[in-house]
Amino acid sequence: MQTQLVQADSVGLQQAAHLLQQGEVVAIPTETVYGLAADATNGQAVKKIFAAKGRPQDNPLIVHIDSIDMWKTLVKEVTADALALAKAFWPGPLTIILPHSGSAAPEVCAGLDTIAVRMPSHPVARAIITQSGLPLAAPSANLSGSPSPTEARYVLEDMEGRIPLIVEGGSCEVGVESTVVTLAGEQPVLLRPGYITKEQLEAVLQKEVLVAGAVTQMLKADEIAASPGMKYKHYAPKAQVTILQASGKDYCDYLNKHAEQGVAALCYEEDVPYLKVPYVVYGKQEDAASQAKELFSALRHLDEMGAKEVYARCPATEGVALAVYNRLLRAAAFRVVQL
Ligand code: TXA
Ligand code: MG
Repeated sequence: MQTQLVQADSVGLQQAAHLLQQGEVVAIPTETVYGLAADATNGQAVKKIFAAKGRPQDNPLIVHIDSIDMWKTLVKEVTADALALAKAFWPGPLTIILPHSGSAAPEVCAGLDTIAVRMPSHPVARAIITQSGLPLAAPSANLSGSPSPTEARYVLEDMEGRIPLIVEGGSCEVGVESTVVTLAGEQPVLLRPGYITKEQLEAVLQKEVLVAGAVTQMLKADEIAASPGMKYKHYAPKAQVTILQASGKDYCDYLNKHAEQGVAALCYEEDVPYLKVPYVVYGKQEDAASQAKELFSALRHLDEMGAKEVYARCPATEGVALAVYNRLLRAAAFRVVQL
Protein backbone atom coordinates (compact mmCIF):
# COMPACT_ATOMS: atom_id res chain seq x y z
CA MET A 1 0.00 0.00 0.00
CA GLN A 2 1.20 3.53 -0.86
CA THR A 3 0.99 5.97 2.05
CA GLN A 4 0.27 9.55 1.05
CA LEU A 5 1.06 12.54 3.27
CA VAL A 6 -1.27 15.47 2.52
CA GLN A 7 -1.63 19.04 3.75
CA ALA A 8 -4.73 19.87 5.80
CA ASP A 9 -6.16 22.08 3.05
CA SER A 10 -9.64 21.64 1.57
CA VAL A 11 -8.42 18.94 -0.85
CA GLY A 12 -6.62 17.01 1.90
CA LEU A 13 -9.56 17.21 4.29
CA GLN A 14 -11.95 16.07 1.57
CA GLN A 15 -9.71 13.12 0.74
CA ALA A 16 -9.49 12.13 4.43
CA ALA A 17 -13.27 12.36 4.94
CA HIS A 18 -13.90 10.34 1.78
CA LEU A 19 -11.50 7.53 2.73
CA LEU A 20 -13.01 7.35 6.24
CA GLN A 21 -16.51 7.04 4.78
CA GLN A 22 -15.22 4.16 2.65
CA GLY A 23 -14.02 2.32 5.74
CA GLU A 24 -10.31 3.14 5.41
CA VAL A 25 -7.83 4.18 8.11
CA VAL A 26 -6.44 7.75 8.06
CA ALA A 27 -3.86 9.27 10.43
CA ILE A 28 -5.01 12.66 11.74
CA PRO A 29 -3.46 15.30 13.99
CA THR A 30 -4.99 16.05 17.39
CA GLU A 31 -3.83 18.46 20.11
CA THR A 32 -2.41 15.52 22.13
CA VAL A 33 -0.78 13.12 19.63
CA TYR A 34 -1.56 11.92 16.09
CA GLY A 35 -4.40 9.40 15.92
CA LEU A 36 -5.09 6.46 13.62
CA ALA A 37 -8.74 7.08 12.75
CA ALA A 38 -11.54 4.92 11.33
CA ASP A 39 -15.35 4.93 11.36
CA ALA A 40 -16.25 3.80 14.90
CA THR A 41 -19.53 2.30 13.68
CA ASN A 42 -17.85 0.06 11.07
CA GLY A 43 -16.30 -3.10 12.55
CA GLN A 44 -14.31 -3.92 9.40
CA ALA A 45 -12.79 -0.43 9.39
CA VAL A 46 -11.92 -0.64 13.10
CA LYS A 47 -10.22 -4.01 12.58
CA LYS A 48 -7.87 -2.29 10.11
CA ILE A 49 -6.67 0.02 12.93
CA PHE A 50 -5.69 -2.96 15.08
CA ALA A 51 -3.91 -4.55 12.10
CA ALA A 52 -2.00 -1.37 11.16
CA LYS A 53 -0.78 -0.83 14.74
CA GLY A 54 -0.23 -4.46 15.67
CA ARG A 55 -2.45 -3.71 18.66
CA PRO A 56 -3.79 -6.47 20.93
CA GLN A 57 -7.53 -7.00 20.25
CA ASP A 58 -8.45 -6.66 23.93
CA ASN A 59 -7.27 -3.05 24.15
CA PRO A 60 -10.26 -0.73 23.47
CA LEU A 61 -10.13 2.51 21.47
CA ILE A 62 -11.15 6.11 22.18
CA VAL A 63 -13.94 7.53 20.00
CA HIS A 64 -13.56 11.13 18.79
CA ILE A 65 -16.65 13.30 18.37
CA ASP A 66 -17.49 16.85 17.37
CA SER A 67 -20.76 17.37 19.28
CA ILE A 68 -22.62 16.40 22.44
CA ASP A 69 -25.35 14.95 20.20
CA MET A 70 -22.84 12.54 18.66
CA TRP A 71 -21.77 11.53 22.19
CA LYS A 72 -25.39 10.78 23.13
CA THR A 73 -25.63 8.18 20.36
CA LEU A 74 -22.60 6.30 21.74
CA VAL A 75 -23.40 6.11 25.47
CA LYS A 76 -26.36 4.84 27.49
CA GLU A 77 -26.71 8.16 29.25
CA VAL A 78 -24.72 11.36 29.52
CA THR A 79 -24.76 11.76 33.30
CA ALA A 80 -24.67 15.13 35.12
CA ASP A 81 -21.03 14.57 36.12
CA ALA A 82 -20.07 13.68 32.57
CA LEU A 83 -21.75 16.76 31.18
CA ALA A 84 -20.05 18.97 33.78
CA LEU A 85 -16.62 17.64 32.73
CA ALA A 86 -17.45 18.04 29.06
CA LYS A 87 -18.58 21.63 29.60
CA ALA A 88 -15.37 22.43 31.48
CA PHE A 89 -12.79 20.65 29.30
CA TRP A 90 -14.19 19.95 25.82
CA PRO A 91 -13.08 20.41 23.20
CA GLY A 92 -9.77 19.32 24.72
CA PRO A 93 -7.49 16.55 26.00
CA LEU A 94 -9.95 14.69 28.27
CA THR A 95 -11.47 11.24 27.61
CA ILE A 96 -14.60 10.25 29.53
CA ILE A 97 -15.67 6.61 29.97
CA LEU A 98 -19.36 5.73 30.39
CA PRO A 99 -21.51 2.63 29.77
CA HIS A 100 -22.02 2.28 26.01
CA SER A 101 -25.26 2.22 24.02
CA GLY A 102 -24.16 -0.51 21.61
CA SER A 103 -24.06 1.77 18.57
CA ALA A 104 -20.28 1.67 18.14
CA ALA A 105 -18.77 -1.43 16.54
CA PRO A 106 -18.03 -4.06 19.25
CA GLU A 107 -14.34 -4.03 18.23
CA VAL A 108 -14.06 -0.44 19.58
CA CYS A 109 -14.92 -1.44 23.15
CA ALA A 110 -13.05 -4.77 23.02
CA GLY A 111 -15.80 -6.61 24.86
CA LEU A 112 -16.23 -4.09 27.71
CA ASP A 113 -19.64 -2.60 28.49
CA THR A 114 -18.17 0.91 28.50
CA ILE A 115 -16.92 3.33 25.84
CA ALA A 116 -14.21 6.00 25.98
CA VAL A 117 -15.07 9.27 24.20
CA ARG A 118 -13.38 12.62 23.68
CA MET A 119 -13.98 15.81 21.71
CA PRO A 120 -10.59 16.97 20.37
CA SER A 121 -9.77 20.67 20.08
CA HIS A 122 -7.39 20.42 17.10
CA PRO A 123 -9.15 22.23 14.22
CA VAL A 124 -8.02 19.61 11.67
CA ALA A 125 -9.35 16.71 13.76
CA ARG A 126 -12.63 18.57 14.24
CA ALA A 127 -12.94 19.36 10.53
CA ILE A 128 -12.38 15.72 9.56
CA ILE A 129 -15.00 14.44 12.03
CA THR A 130 -17.49 17.04 10.80
CA GLN A 131 -16.84 16.50 7.09
CA SER A 132 -17.02 12.72 7.36
CA GLY A 133 -20.05 12.95 9.67
CA LEU A 134 -18.63 9.99 11.61
CA PRO A 135 -17.55 9.30 15.18
CA LEU A 136 -13.90 8.28 14.73
CA ALA A 137 -12.23 5.53 16.73
CA ALA A 138 -8.58 6.56 17.03
CA PRO A 139 -5.70 5.24 19.08
CA SER A 140 -2.32 6.94 18.93
CA ALA A 141 -0.82 6.52 15.44
CA ASN A 142 2.31 4.61 16.47
CA LEU A 143 3.14 0.94 16.13
CA SER A 144 2.00 -0.77 19.32
CA GLY A 145 4.70 -0.36 21.97
CA SER A 146 6.59 2.59 20.46
CA PRO A 147 6.33 6.25 21.53
CA SER A 148 3.16 8.07 20.43
CA PRO A 149 3.79 10.31 17.39
CA THR A 150 3.71 14.06 17.95
CA GLU A 151 4.67 14.92 14.35
CA ALA A 152 3.47 13.64 10.98
CA ARG A 153 6.96 12.40 10.07
CA TYR A 154 6.90 10.04 13.07
CA VAL A 155 3.56 8.67 11.88
CA LEU A 156 5.11 8.07 8.47
CA GLU A 157 8.06 6.31 10.14
CA ASP A 158 5.72 3.81 11.83
CA MET A 159 2.85 3.60 9.32
CA GLU A 160 4.45 3.79 5.86
CA GLY A 161 2.89 1.07 3.69
CA ARG A 162 0.28 0.26 6.35
CA ILE A 163 -2.34 3.01 5.81
CA PRO A 164 -3.38 5.03 2.74
CA LEU A 165 -3.28 8.59 4.15
CA ILE A 166 -1.67 10.84 6.75
CA VAL A 167 -2.93 14.41 7.22
CA GLU A 168 -0.18 16.90 8.15
CA GLY A 169 -1.08 19.04 11.15
CA GLY A 170 2.22 20.29 12.55
CA SER A 171 3.60 19.28 15.94
CA CYS A 172 1.08 18.44 18.64
CA GLU A 173 0.62 21.13 21.27
CA VAL A 174 0.08 18.91 24.35
CA GLY A 175 2.40 16.05 23.40
CA VAL A 176 1.03 13.32 25.70
CA GLU A 177 -2.26 11.47 25.24
CA SER A 178 -5.49 12.65 26.82
CA THR A 179 -6.38 12.26 30.48
CA VAL A 180 -8.69 9.23 30.79
CA VAL A 181 -11.33 9.27 33.55
CA THR A 182 -14.04 6.67 34.08
CA LEU A 183 -17.45 7.70 35.36
CA ALA A 184 -18.84 4.19 34.88
CA GLY A 185 -18.35 3.13 38.50
CA GLU A 186 -19.47 4.39 41.91
CA GLN A 187 -16.62 6.91 42.09
CA PRO A 188 -14.68 8.68 39.34
CA VAL A 189 -11.30 7.06 38.68
CA LEU A 190 -8.35 8.52 36.79
CA LEU A 191 -7.10 5.72 34.52
CA ARG A 192 -4.46 7.70 32.62
CA PRO A 193 -3.00 11.05 33.69
CA GLY A 194 -2.72 13.81 31.09
CA TYR A 195 -2.74 17.56 30.59
CA ILE A 196 -6.08 17.88 32.44
CA THR A 197 -5.11 17.06 36.02
CA LYS A 198 -6.84 15.12 38.79
CA GLU A 199 -7.11 18.39 40.75
CA GLN A 200 -8.88 20.09 37.83
CA LEU A 201 -11.35 17.20 37.56
CA GLU A 202 -12.02 17.32 41.30
CA ALA A 203 -12.64 21.06 41.20
CA VAL A 204 -15.40 20.58 38.61
CA LEU A 205 -16.95 17.41 40.07
CA GLN A 206 -16.71 18.63 43.66
CA LYS A 207 -15.72 15.11 44.68
CA GLU A 208 -12.64 12.99 45.05
CA VAL A 209 -11.19 11.36 41.93
CA LEU A 210 -9.36 8.12 42.69
CA VAL A 211 -6.16 7.28 40.84
CA ALA A 212 -5.83 3.75 39.39
CA GLY A 213 -2.83 1.95 40.89
CA ALA A 214 -1.42 1.18 37.46
CA VAL A 215 -0.75 4.89 36.86
CA THR A 216 2.44 4.73 38.93
CA GLN A 217 2.91 1.01 39.64
CA MET A 218 3.51 -2.08 37.60
CA LEU A 219 0.47 -4.37 37.42
CA LYS A 220 0.95 -7.63 39.29
CA ALA A 221 0.82 -10.81 37.21
CA ASP A 222 -2.72 -11.72 38.32
CA GLU A 223 -4.14 -8.18 38.46
CA ILE A 224 -6.90 -7.09 36.05
CA ALA A 225 -6.24 -3.67 34.53
CA ALA A 226 -9.04 -1.10 34.92
CA SER A 227 -7.82 0.15 31.56
CA PRO A 228 -6.50 -2.67 29.39
CA GLY A 229 -3.84 -0.42 27.82
CA MET A 230 -2.05 -0.16 31.14
CA LYS A 231 -0.85 -3.74 31.10
CA TYR A 232 1.10 -3.44 27.87
CA LYS A 233 4.68 -2.27 27.42
CA HIS A 234 4.58 1.26 26.11
CA TYR A 235 6.50 4.13 24.63
CA ALA A 236 9.72 2.15 24.59
CA PRO A 237 12.64 3.40 22.52
CA LYS A 238 15.23 0.84 21.42
CA ALA A 239 17.61 1.97 24.15
CA GLN A 240 17.29 0.76 27.74
CA VAL A 241 15.98 3.66 29.79
CA THR A 242 16.59 4.14 33.52
CA ILE A 243 15.03 6.97 35.51
CA LEU A 244 17.41 8.55 38.03
CA GLN A 245 15.88 10.19 41.08
CA ALA A 246 18.49 12.78 41.95
CA SER A 247 19.21 16.49 42.13
CA GLY A 248 20.37 18.11 38.91
CA LYS A 249 23.93 18.15 40.16
CA ASP A 250 24.02 14.50 41.27
CA TYR A 251 22.37 13.49 37.99
CA CYS A 252 25.00 15.26 35.87
CA ASP A 253 27.86 13.96 38.04
CA TYR A 254 26.57 10.39 37.67
CA LEU A 255 26.34 10.66 33.88
CA ASN A 256 29.74 12.26 33.50
CA LYS A 257 31.23 9.36 35.49
CA HIS A 258 29.47 6.86 33.21
CA ALA A 259 30.41 8.49 29.90
CA GLU A 260 30.77 5.20 28.03
CA GLN A 261 29.98 4.46 24.41
CA GLY A 262 26.18 4.40 23.84
CA VAL A 263 25.28 6.22 27.07
CA ALA A 264 23.03 9.24 26.69
CA ALA A 265 21.13 11.64 28.93
CA LEU A 266 17.42 12.45 28.69
CA CYS A 267 17.61 15.69 30.59
CA TYR A 268 16.17 19.14 31.26
CA GLU A 269 17.36 22.24 29.46
CA GLU A 270 19.02 23.41 32.69
CA ASP A 271 21.29 20.31 32.81
CA VAL A 272 22.90 20.90 29.41
CA PRO A 273 25.86 23.11 30.49
CA TYR A 274 26.94 20.48 33.05
CA LEU A 275 26.77 17.33 30.90
CA LYS A 276 29.77 15.78 29.12
CA VAL A 277 27.76 12.95 27.49
CA PRO A 278 25.43 13.01 24.45
CA TYR A 279 22.01 14.25 25.52
CA VAL A 280 18.46 14.91 24.38
CA VAL A 281 16.47 17.61 26.16
CA TYR A 282 12.85 17.12 27.21
CA GLY A 283 11.62 20.47 28.46
CA LYS A 284 12.47 22.67 31.41
CA GLN A 285 12.72 21.55 35.02
CA GLU A 286 9.86 23.61 36.44
CA ASP A 287 7.67 23.43 33.34
CA ALA A 288 5.81 20.11 33.14
CA ALA A 289 3.87 21.23 30.05
CA SER A 290 7.15 21.65 28.15
CA GLN A 291 8.25 18.17 29.30
CA ALA A 292 4.96 16.67 28.09
CA LYS A 293 5.25 18.39 24.74
CA GLU A 294 8.79 17.16 24.10
CA LEU A 295 8.97 13.71 25.76
CA PHE A 296 7.88 11.47 22.88
CA SER A 297 9.95 13.20 20.22
CA ALA A 298 12.92 13.10 22.63
CA LEU A 299 12.52 9.32 22.96
CA ARG A 300 12.57 9.01 19.16
CA HIS A 301 15.64 11.28 18.92
CA LEU A 302 17.52 8.97 21.30
CA ASP A 303 16.92 6.11 18.86
CA GLU A 304 18.05 8.24 15.93
CA MET A 305 21.27 8.97 17.86
CA GLY A 306 21.81 5.24 18.38
CA ALA A 307 21.76 5.53 22.17
CA LYS A 308 21.98 2.16 23.93
CA GLU A 309 21.67 3.17 27.56
CA VAL A 310 19.65 6.23 28.54
CA TYR A 311 19.49 7.88 31.95
CA ALA A 312 16.49 10.16 32.40
CA ARG A 313 15.91 12.98 34.87
CA CYS A 314 12.95 12.02 37.03
CA PRO A 315 9.86 14.23 36.56
CA ALA A 316 7.70 15.36 39.46
CA THR A 317 4.61 13.28 40.21
CA GLU A 318 1.92 15.93 40.61
CA GLY A 319 -0.27 17.88 38.22
CA VAL A 320 0.73 17.68 34.55
CA ALA A 321 4.08 16.14 35.58
CA LEU A 322 2.23 12.97 36.66
CA ALA A 323 1.40 12.38 32.97
CA VAL A 324 5.08 12.74 32.08
CA TYR A 325 6.16 10.43 34.91
CA ASN A 326 3.54 7.83 33.91
CA ARG A 327 4.80 7.69 30.28
CA LEU A 328 8.49 7.77 31.20
CA LEU A 329 7.99 4.95 33.73
CA ARG A 330 6.66 2.73 30.95
CA ALA A 331 9.40 3.78 28.55
CA ALA A 332 11.82 2.72 31.31
CA ALA A 333 9.96 -0.54 32.01
CA PHE A 334 9.64 0.76 35.61
CA ARG A 335 13.43 0.97 36.17
CA VAL A 336 13.81 3.78 38.71
CA VAL A 337 17.04 4.26 40.67
CA GLN A 338 17.50 6.67 43.55
CA LEU A 339 21.03 8.12 43.65
O1 TXA B 1 -4.99 11.71 23.31
C1 TXA B 1 -5.46 10.60 23.07
O2 TXA B 1 -6.27 10.04 23.82
C2 TXA B 1 -5.01 9.92 21.75
C3 TXA B 1 -5.49 10.78 20.60
C4 TXA B 1 -5.30 10.13 19.28
O3 TXA B 1 -6.82 11.16 20.81
N1 TXA B 1 -5.52 8.58 21.70
C5 TXA B 1 -5.01 7.58 22.47
O4 TXA B 1 -5.58 6.33 22.26
O5 TXA B 1 -4.14 7.74 23.27
P1 TXA B 1 -4.89 4.99 22.75
O6 TXA B 1 -5.70 3.91 22.12
O7 TXA B 1 -3.46 5.00 22.46
O8 TXA B 1 -5.18 4.94 24.28
C6 TXA B 1 -6.49 4.66 24.77
C7 TXA B 1 -6.42 4.24 26.21
C8 TXA B 1 -5.90 2.82 26.34
O9 TXA B 1 -5.07 2.73 27.48
C9 TXA B 1 -7.17 2.01 26.52
O10 TXA B 1 -6.96 0.81 27.22
C10 TXA B 1 -8.06 2.99 27.27
O11 TXA B 1 -7.74 4.24 26.76
N2 TXA B 1 -9.49 2.73 27.06
C11 TXA B 1 -10.20 2.88 25.93
N3 TXA B 1 -11.48 2.51 26.11
C12 TXA B 1 -11.58 2.12 27.40
C13 TXA B 1 -12.65 1.62 28.20
N4 TXA B 1 -13.86 1.46 27.71
N5 TXA B 1 -12.37 1.33 29.50
C14 TXA B 1 -11.13 1.49 29.99
N6 TXA B 1 -10.09 1.96 29.29
C15 TXA B 1 -10.31 2.26 28.01
MG1 MG C 1 -1.33 4.64 22.49
